Amino acid sequence: NDTQKIRASLLDWYDHNRRDLPWRMAAPDPLEENGEEKEKRAYGVWVSEVMLQQTRVQTVIDYYNRWMLKWPTLQHLAQASLEVFLNTNPMSVLDVWFRLEVNEMWAGLGYYRRARFLLEGAKKIIAEGEGFPNTVSSLRKVPGIGDYTAGAIASIAFNEVVPVVDGNVVRVLARLKAISANPKDRKLAAQLVDPCRPGDLNQSLMELGATVCTPSTPNCSSCPVSSQCSAFSISKKDESVLVTHY
Ligand code: ADE
Repeated sequence: NDTQKIRASLLDWYDHNRRDLPWRMAAPDPLEENGEEKEKRAYGVWVSEVMLQQTRVQTVIDYYNRWMLKWPTLQHLAQASLEVFLNTNPMSVLDVWFRLEVNEMWAGLGYYRRARFLLEGAKKIIAEGEGFPNTVSSLRKVPGIGDYTAGAIASIAFNEVVPVVDGNVVRVLARLKAISANPKDRKLAAQLVDPCRPGDLNQSLMELGATVCTPSTPNCSSCPVSSQCSAFSISKKDESVLVTHY
């Protein structure tokens, strides 16, 4: 049926066109992977998705790589502090380096509240000692993790079948169905999310919105789902529709 066709086209397109980004670790083999690898990927997805919320991919790459060099795991991050701190206890140089300040690593990205939430969240997860939360409902309890980030981590790192809805996804789905874009409506995304590869399907929608189904001049001729797209079909009679309606 239609939904299956759209999923298959999106996943095939994503497999051949996905950008090679540092937080996109190799797709998991659910049977072989151990918990540690999953947690490492979840941490990377968390850091990257938080950075990507108000910052372009090209800028995020450098910040992400530096962040992961300094704090390669959640355990490392949980040891960090927010600001430069003067500690009178004797500490080794290495100790000081590992505790280097979150705000300093974030400088230039803006919205420092996001960085503070990452640090607070890491401390909370480690303090609770129950491992990385791996469902949307448990992720939502971490400070600073909202629906978007919870959905991204749960689907990309843990294969939970949940949608991820950002501005790009809203626009892509609105065009596909020729409905007016409503950022609060998650129903379409929930219907479309792939039961086998939820993380890849979600990322294909975000990627398509960022690179092909762009706001003002969508490149419909390289879109994998143009033949199923209602807005594209209307645009053959009224070219302006893609630009003015979604
Ligand atoms: N924008 C934010 N997160 C993204 C992701 N995981 N893939 C593509 N674009 C994104």
